[in-house]
Amino acid sequence: MVNKTLNAAAHNFDDNEVILFAINNFCLQGDMFWIIGFILRLTIFEAIIYLGITFALFLYIRSYLEKQQIENIKEKAVFITGCDTGFGRDLAIKCLENGMTVFAGCLTQNGINNLKRDSKGGNKLDAFLLNVSENKSCEEAGIYIEKKLAGKPLHAVVNNAGITGKFLKDDFLDIEEYKKVCDINMFGVIRTTHCVKRLIKKSRGRVVTVASICARVGLPGIGPYTTAKYGVSGYCDVLRQELRPFGVSVHILEPGFFETPLIGREKINREVQQAWAEAPPQVREEYGETYFNKSCETINFFLNRVSNKDVYLVVDAYYHAITSKWPRSRYQVGWDSILCFIPFSYLPTGMQDLVFASAAYFLPKPAQC
Ligand SMILES: *[C@@H]1O[C@H](CO)[C@@H](O)[C@H](O)[C@H]1NC(C)=O
Ligand SMILES: *[C@@H]1O[C@H](CO)[C@@H](O)[C@H](O)[C@H]1NC(C)=O
Ligand SMILES: *[C@@H]1O[C@H](CO)[C@@H](O)[C@H](O)[C@H]1NC(C)=O
Repeated sequence: MVNKTLNAAAHNFDDNEVILFAINNFCLQGDMFWIIGFILRLTIFEAIIYLGITFALFLYIRSYLEKQQIENIKEKAVFITGCDTGFGRDLAIKCLENGMTVFAGCLTQNGINNLKRDSKGGNKLDAFLLNVSENKSCEEAGIYIEKKLAGKPLHAVVNNAGITGKFLKDDFLDIEEYKKVCDINMFGVIRTTHCVKRLIKKSRGRVVTVASICARVGLPGIGPYTTAKYGVSGYCDVLRQELRPFGVSVHILEPGFFETPLIGREKINREVQQAWAEAPPQVREEYGETYFNKSCETINFFLNRVSNKDVYLVVDAYYHAITSKWPRSRYQVGWDSILCFIPFSYLPTGMQDLVFASAAYFLPKPAQC
């Protein structure tokens, strides 16, 4: 090594040589920086191969870890809201099939009857009326569950209940629509969580909540829903930090658009028609009937194109958050969420605007703009 040093000093060497010289010395001395030397010496091709291998290894280890489930699943009790239809109902059935005790909050008696009929849950299913827009209803649910559990732990609460609200631009909406959607989708989550939080803390359990990709990207025409989902996402992010010291974990689902009773075409079209009929004359003038007719088609086209039919993906994500040993803090669910909306949400705002502006070029425009 002494010889090498002398040789290096003996002639005019360029930067590369200095780096290699330094690397060689680091390596020869078994310095902790050998890995830097290793990386610097890779060709681009080699670097890509090594990155690929590392990523594959990461995916493999992650998928292995994520397959590990908690013990005694059959002894766990969960509380799910919004079990009348859709994700909530399917999740309740899945939990029951796996032997869990399910407290299922349903908005209607019809919902309860259907769930009881379809789940064959027997005595492990406890379905009751719950309206997450009402303080009293949530409080009563909390007290009821505590009494029924009789000291046994509540493993998780799943905040699933929600509505989409109207698919209309802000110009066609009044404050009541915002209040209604926030009351269910946002305050409903907070109310429900408050009413069972002490039970979840006692069991060092989990709070699982459905947000949406609408809590990442503001799509025009979905204002109230987006507002509420941003709120829910914010609430969960804060809660996750606040409850960690208590051993409680908080998980958010961010599904894309799914084909559920929530997104009923007929209902959406009816609401759009009605909003148009009720809009003040000056708003109608601003937008024009041609725009209105075309925008109905646009909504249908968008929903047909984007809506994911694999509803079980959301149910599986819920179930994973409840039963996995290492659940994720956020679940992106559906190809549109994973491939489009989430990557899009990381773009700078200016670039996002550029994409929206380009898309708007192909979409109907209001008459007066
Ligand atoms: C739920 O509660 C809200 C607020 O009190 C009420 O407006 C709504 O009608 C209730 N829904 C049902 C199905 O009872
Ligand atoms: C819910 O509780 C809050 C505060 O406790 C109260 O101001 C509000 O009026 C209650 N809402 C209903 C619908 O009971
Ligand atoms: C919009 O649609 C309605 C009902 O389909 C039709 O009666 C009306 O003529 C249409 N208006 C325009 C401007 O295309």
